Amino acid sequence: MRKKAFKIALWFSVIFIVVIQAFQIDKTNPISDPELDFLTSAGELGRVGNILKKTCYDCHSNQSVYPWYSSVNPAGWLIRDHIDEAREHLNFSEWTKYEAKKQDHKLEECLEEFGEGEMPIQGYALMHPEADLSDEDKQLLMDYFKTRRAAIKL
Ligand code: HEC
Repeated sequence: MRKKAFKIALWFSVIFIVVIQAFQIDKTNPISDPELDFLTSAGELGRVGNILKKTCYDCHSNQSVYPWYSSVNPAGWLIRDHIDEAREHLNFSEWTKYEAKKQDHKLEECLEEFGEGEMPIQGYALMHPEADLSDEDKQLLMDYFKTRRAAIKL
């Protein structure tokens, strides 16, 4: 009897997993205007720009690169949620639309969150080893956030 119940439960799980694959997430990125972007608007296309892109842009920009497992639910739903929430808080692709005060505050939070190892969110570097930065690259990015913050005219 127990064996039968187990078999039924297993079948239901399989069917459930198959059915949820039909509800794929929307992966269309909103348009990215270089004039609004945190990096390109400042002419920053060098090393530090690459570091920021590979560590933060998948979630905090309109240039998200969706990994293959974003086509496998429920992982896809989780990724969609993360990106939507991250963009709402801070979208580097819309940077110049922010008022000076907001830019200052966002950079203060970047220094805090990144400096304390809170960002990128847990698990991200595990799936994206290139985002597991060397101490030197971390310092470079921290210094860049500071420089950009100091340049804001409040
Ligand atoms: C995998 C997605 C992901 C990546 C990559 C990521 N973040 Fe986030 N970030 C989020 C999410 C989701 C939130 C909102 C929830 C939270 O605060 O945990 C957030 C919140 C933030 C906030 C808070 C903004 C506010 O207004 O409260 C800052 C600052 C931030 N991230 C900076 C960064 C920086 C800098 C990087 C790169 C070093 C980065 N994040 C990489 C997903 C991500």
